[in-house]
Order: sequence, then structure tokens, then C-alpha cells
Amino acid sequence: VTTCRQRFLDALHCRPTDRPPAWFMRQAGRYLPEYRELRSTQTFMETLADAERAAEITLQPIRRFGMDAAVVFSDILVPLAAMGMGLEFESGVGPVLTPPVRDMDGVRALHDFDPNVAVAHLAETLRICRRELDSGAFASHDLGGRNAGPRGLIGFCGAPFTVASYAVEGRGSRTFEHTKKMMWTEPRTFDALLSRIVDVSLPYLALQVASGADVLQLFDSWGGALDAVTYRRAVLPHLMRLVKGARDLGVPVIVYMNGGSHLLDELLASEPSALAIDWRVVPKVASAKVGPHVALQGNIDPIVFLADAAAVRSETARTLAAFEGHPGYVFNVGSGFVPATVPENVAVALETVRG
Ligand code: CP3
Repeated sequence: VTTCRQRFLDALHCRPTDRPPAWFMRQAGRYLPEYRELRSTQTFMETLADAERAAEITLQPIRRFGMDAAVVFSDILVPLAAMGMGLEFESGVGPVLTPPVRDMDGVRALHDFDPNVAVAHLAETLRICRRELDSGAFASHDLGGRNAGPRGLIGFCGAPFTVASYAVEGRGSRTFEHTKKMMWTEPRTFDALLSRIVDVSLPYLALQVASGADVLQLFDSWGGALDAVTYRRAVLPHLMRLVKGARDLGVPVIVYMNGGSHLLDELLASEPSALAIDWRVVPKVASAKVGPHVALQGNIDPIVFLADAAAVRSETARTLAAFEGHPGYVFNVGSGFVPATVPENVAVALETVRG
């Protein structure tokens, strides 16, 4: 019998599995009462620095639902803070980074960091998670051996364009005005910024693998804001260096983009182990494009999880059927769970995947 961890790794290596493994982006988060409880007495950044608590938050969804993999509780903006930017999460606004990087002096002000020192808490969080995920602490989800054993552990970082957009805008954006303006008027500054982000991300990912991460996911959440020609010219060389360096660490690498159905060729050119797609991408189209040696992950609409059990069951079944026949498939949402996600619906989706 395969373990949950082995099932997850097999799918990412495009090896046959008894059923698709499943996990969910933002599976630890505000939709869980036990998360709100643990977060209520500390800020988000304080919680990340508290390894015991961050590990417990990582494990909460596994305790409740028994997914095949856990994703470490952290954030893609942590490296920008370690490079010297101010980072706060303001309610109603989201992340705020200060001062925004708007010129070459701003890029130069971002300093290198030793991940063993600057994010020692992340390494400790991963070590605690690894120990717990290997311990058999989730036996209540064993299902007579069909859903047993250690779970996978996913480390991550942001991809160059997405992280750069937060550095340049100083916050989330819909139009990426400062970022695109920099790209076109100060291409050398833009290029230097993306280079710096990849430079620090590689040792940051290496620390995560050394501390117990089995798999790495690179989040290019906003890369879809660019057209294909521009993405290929200005961003892809940086993404390629990041993916290559991550794969050289010896783990499967998942590349995720939201709103990237027009960039599948570009993402594929970065040579990921798996491509994670959102619900706008037709699975059969993605399958034909990536071929039999690249795994796929996705792509149910996370807002379905606000509807009723019948909708979750049928949309899960439809998603599974749409990926049927692709060698190497991981069930997931097409973007992260939102706070209004109904926890009971998560159990319904997992039952459907396991059934
Ligand atoms: O469960 C997981 O997915 C693992 C942890 C994780 C978080 N953020 C925790 C988090 C991961 C993988 C991320 C990635 C991330 N962070 C992305 C890319 C993924 C995506 O959603 O497309 C982005 C764009 C960010 C930046 C970020 N962090 C924003 C925009 C926000 C605020 C929005 C919000 O939901 O409040 C965050 C904060 C954040 N990161 C929270 C969590 C659980 C909410 C913090 C809280 O408890 O108040």
C-alpha cells in the first residue's frame, strides 16, 4: 500500500497512483475556527516567528481532513521583509511593504540575508511539521490503509514577477501600474530587481528542503497580468533560473499561475515538474500541451466551496473526470480558499476524490 506522501510524490513524477492525491492552496487559514483561535492573540508576522504555533497551523487541516500533503504556514512576502523592506498586514488592505522599490537605489537597498539566521523560525517550523507528518498522528484518517502514513510537506516561495510587483507597488494591485511602468521605462532596474529576488530565493528554498520540505511550489499569482511576448522577454529568464535552481535541490517543483491560460507555453518553457492551473484552463487542453512527462495540479473553482455539498460533489467529480488519463495529476483548487469556505465542503471533496 502506498502512503499519502508516496502518492503525492508519485503523481508529481508522473508515475501511476491508486487515486489522485489532494491538497488545497490556503488549506490553513481563516475559514477554520481553530486557525482563527490560534491567530487571535498575535499578528500574522508574530505567528510566523513562533515556530510551534506556525507548525500547528500547518497541521490543523491535516488533523481535521487528512489531506495527502501539508503546505507550510508562511508567506511569499517573507523574503522581501528579510531583504529589509517593512512588511505589515493591514486588515482590509492586505500586505503593505515600505518603502516601495521605484528605482535602482531602491533595488540596491535590498540586502542579502542568510536564511539560516533571518528565517531560522521557518526551518524550525518545517522540522516540527516533518516530525509530526511522519509520526502517524493522523491515524484517524487512515481509512483502513487507503489514506495512511506520512504526508507530503510543501515548501514555497513567490515567483519573480509576483514578488517584484509587491515590492514595486508596495501593496496588492489590479493594474500593476508602477511595476509595468518600471518594466518599460527602466528595464535595467526591473531586470536587476527580478535578479535580486531569484538570488535570495534559491538559498531560501534550499533551507526549506534541508529542513524537511519534499516538494516546492513557486507562486506566480499575478504573472497573468502580462502578455505572452512580454512575459517571455522580461520575466521568463528569471523564472527559468529559479525553477532550474529549485529542481537542482532534488525535489519536484510545481509552478502555479492564476489567470495564466494564455501563458502555458511560457510556463512550460521553465521546465517545471508540474504545472498548477486555475479553473479557466481546460484540463484536456493543458494535458495535450504539457505532454506525459509534466504533471498537472488543479483546478476546481475555490468558490464552489461556499455552495452546498451537492455542488461540491459534482464539481469535484467533473474536475477528476476532466484530468482522467493525464499521467501525474494532483487534485487542488485553482486559487486559494477564501475565508468564507465551508469546512464541511472540504471533507465532501476529499471523500469524492478518495471514493
Ligand atoms: O495554506 C497555505 O496556502 C500556506 C500559506 C500561504 C499563505 N500565503 C498564508 C497567508 C501561502 C502559500 C501564501 C501565498 C501567498 N501570499 C500568495 C500567493 C498565493 C495566492 O493566493 O495566489 C500571495 C499573493 C500572498 C500575499 C498575501 N499574503 C496577501 C495578498 C495576503 C492578504 C490577503 C488575505 O487573505 O488576508 C496575505 C496574508 C496571508 N497569507 C494570510 C494567510 C493565511 C491571511 C493572514 C491572516 O490570518 O490574517
